[in-house]
Amino acid sequence: PIRRTTVPQISARKGGEPIVSLTSYHAHTAAIVDKYADFILVGDSLGMVMHGMESTVGVPLDLMIMHGKAVVRGTQKALVVVDMPFGTYEESPAVAFRNAARIMKETGCGAVKLEGGARMAETIRFLTERGIPVMAHIGLTPQSSHVMGGFKTQGREEDSWPQHEADAAAVTEAGAFALVLEGMVEPLAAKITKQVAIPTIGIGASAECDGQILVLEDMLGLNAWTPKFVKQYGDLGPAIDRAVSDYADEVKTRAFPGPEHTYK
Ligand code: KIV
Ligand code: NA
Repeated sequence: PIRRTTVPQISARKGGEPIVSLTSYHAHTAAIVDKYADFILVGDSLGMVMHGMESTVGVPLDLMIMHGKAVVRGTQKALVVVDMPFGTYEESPAVAFRNAARIMKETGCGAVKLEGGARMAETIRFLTERGIPVMAHIGLTPQSSHVMGGFKTQGREEDSWPQHEADAAAVTEAGAFALVLEGMVEPLAAKITKQVAIPTIGIGASAECDGQILVLEDMLGLNAWTPKFVKQYGDLGPAIDRAVSDYADEVKTRAFPGPEHTYK
């Protein structure tokens, strides 16, 4: 059996060849991503992307576990990281451990990710000391969008940088094995990447990071609107539209099913 990429292997990539990562929520897309990605994130963005929610705040733990299982089943090679959803880890290290352990045991994933800097450091240490690797996530943290007043690029004002730098240092010191920097101006992402000993994974945080992640459906062109930081590598929305429309036409004209699709 092919051994999966390990957490220490990801950490060891600091300052080296950029780490490749995408989100995935399903066995079939994950199997494709698995060929090229170092790690796959089962992001709580699935609430918005797959389930039509307005934010990630409403995503239940059971939904993360269900999609996490599908991605682990569909892959062999990449490290699978599963997001802890809002409300399952903020209250206390013990609550976080209980829920993270459920994610690890029920999905078979190799690590969890949670949002927050200095305020989550104690929890990150509690989990990592007890066998649960944690990927941290700072900058634009969508689970806090109600407090932040929406989805805002971080670090535009230089006087906000010390807080972000302190967050990055705190999660590193607490034992996080990698750090997602989301929605952050390039000079701040560059500064943090130089300051911390663990790899930074950027999304909307410039090429200065040690790796990159995008939401798969965004880069495939499946979402109606995408933010500036997304490059569309595919145009699947129109391709699916065409296929469904052709199918509908052929059903109506009885062109489908043809003799080759029929049991005689
Ligand atoms: O939920 C998600 O997809 C994420 C990535 C954008 C980092 O957290
Ligand atoms: Na997320």
